Amino acid sequence: MLRRLCVTDDGSTTIFVPQLNEHYHSLNGAVNESLHVFIKTGLLSLQQKESLHILEIGFGTALNAALSEVFTRENKMLNYTALEPFPLNNEEIQSLNYFEVYPDISKDIFLKLHAVPFDNQYYPITDKFRLRLFAASITSMIFDDEQYDLVYFDAFAPDKQPELWTKEVFLNIYNAMKVGAVLCTYSAKGSVRRQMEAIGFKVERLEGFAKKREMLRAIKL
Ligand SMILES: C[S@@+](CC[C@H](N)C(=O)[O-])C[C@H]1O[C@@H](n2cnc3c(N)ncnc32)[C@H](O)[C@@H]1O
Repeated sequence: MLRRLCVTDDGSTTIFVPQLNEHYHSLNGAVNESLHVFIKTGLLSLQQKESLHILEIGFGTALNAALSEVFTRENKMLNYTALEPFPLNNEEIQSLNYFEVYPDISKDIFLKLHAVPFDNQYYPITDKFRLRLFAASITSMIFDDEQYDLVYFDAFAPDKQPELWTKEVFLNIYNAMKVGAVLCTYSAKGSVRRQMEAIGFKVERLEGFAKKREMLRAIKL
């Protein structure tokens, strides 16, 4: 798949996929979007938990993993599982600038995240953060039941990849979440919200990032 590097409004890089006419992040700021949608609304809402299992749909640039590591450095153990059927190549990884724009991200740790093989095994990144990567699509992933406390649903937009935003996919993820677990996504599309509610999620519409009016946070009751 052809991909191109771009710079967003906060100075951080993202990737553009011409075939989908879609970017990996908001052009209003990749780092700021990730901080808003996944860190502030997701990770920081579970601050009381000492150990968390996170699932990310779409590992991509590893920005969400790198920021999660920053926010758990002091006080949490994080077990991070991510799915990515189209990993970045080395040249793309080397061109990402997140540790320059957001210096709390350590360059060493960022490169360690990208050095993890896609072999479904956990690898320690620090003594508080371990990562496992699956080169798998969410549409065919088989999960163990009730493992995850937090899900970052960061697939391409529903109008670009509708097959990833179906009731079947959300039910699969729902079953893999613990009771009380939280799923965050930048999309607030009505049909997505209604599918989540039909499965049993309690869905909140929260302020979206930049020009997006709303985003969704879904809780498994
Ligand atoms: C909007 S980008 C976000 C990537 C990443 N979270 C980041 O911050 O860089 C969507 C990601 O989903 C991945 N993806 C595409 N199809 C997928 C699928 N069927 N299952 C899981 N991930 C998929 C893409 O390759 C891409 O990395």
